[in-house]
Amino acid sequence: MSPSACRVSAPRTPQNITDAAVRAIKNGATHYTPASGIPEVREATARHVTRSTGVPTRMENIVLTPGRKNLLLFALLSLVEAGDEVIIPDPGYPIYRSLVEFIGARAVSLPVRQGNDFRPDPEELRALISPRTRLLIMNSPQNPTGGVLRREDCEAIAGIAVENDLVVVSDEIYSRINYDGEHVSLYALDGMAERTILMDGLSKAWAMCGWRLGFGAMPVEIARRMDTLMINSSSCAAAFTQWAAVEAFESAESDLAVDHMVREFRHRRDVIVDALNSIPGIACHKPEGAFYVFPDITETGWSDRDLAVTLLDEVGVAVLRGTAFGPLGEGHIRLSYANSIDNLTAAADRIATFLGAPVSG
Ligand SMILES: Cc1ncc(COP(=O)(O)O)c(C=O)c1O
Repeated sequence: MSPSACRVSAPRTPQNITDAAVRAIKNGATHYTPASGIPEVREATARHVTRSTGVPTRMENIVLTPGRKNLLLFALLSLVEAGDEVIIPDPGYPIYRSLVEFIGARAVSLPVRQGNDFRPDPEELRALISPRTRLLIMNSPQNPTGGVLRREDCEAIAGIAVENDLVVVSDEIYSRINYDGEHVSLYALDGMAERTILMDGLSKAWAMCGWRLGFGAMPVEIARRMDTLMINSSSCAAAFTQWAAVEAFESAESDLAVDHMVREFRHRRDVIVDALNSIPGIACHKPEGAFYVFPDITETGWSDRDLAVTLLDEVGVAVLRGTAFGPLGEGHIRLSYANSIDNLTAAADRIATFLGAPVSG
């Protein structure tokens, strides 16, 4: 497929960040770097994490990787043995389950339900902990539901992690894409910095998914293990991408671009939620963060799998089946609204017209 064949109206990387990368290439940032990142860039990342979470964070706590996904794989390889249990949100980002199972551990589903604004119930979490539980993976704002953890949720989860001496992976890659409330970082709560791997990256907030840069803040002993895994796998993240991150973190122009993008996403969210809710049989919760909607489609009479396949084949609308995100995604589909208003309304119109027809599937 040519790049233009898969082009959607996703936000562009802010121009000042692209310019910084071009300058870096011209200045010779085209070689290997230290495995966990260029020291000045790790320093800038530590300042960014300190500013955004309030937790004093040093360069030694920071690891830069080619994308956030590597951080999760490295966390699992560093901390989890085959046969251990890892608690993951369900529905949740599919890579959690696939990587947990890849290393021979067991993924234990923590439900996030529409009836609870797609937030987990801390008592359900407590009941899932066993002597084999090694890690708890949390994600807020969440893919695929757009659910956002409130302060009381985070405090309850942190309390449970401390009581049970669990390490928490907190995937906060959508932290800047939060429409209605404050972003509460698990890393920032009492007793959590020493047991949390905060995972973030440039892909979402700065619209840089193709640049491949993830960053993690974590206890120094875990950072050292990740450094070893970087030496043995990717060697380092691309040097000029790392320099571009400094521009992303530290320039006022980048902040303005992120704010503008988030306002635009909020507008798209409102448009797509209203359009979907006007379709008989679809109940769409208004998400508080990220750029996904996860409507309940059970009343249409379709299964999530059949509806996703049929919408693509018959009306050219790409959605994902809810069960791609875990068994508890059944009865839902996921749409991304990182697309233009025109495309979103056209997609909603096609779904409406399609569902107006008698159900044949
Ligand atoms: C929750 C979540 N974490 C991580 C990622 C991937 O991040 P990266 O592009 O940095 O690997 C995604 C991408 O969709 C995501 O939804």
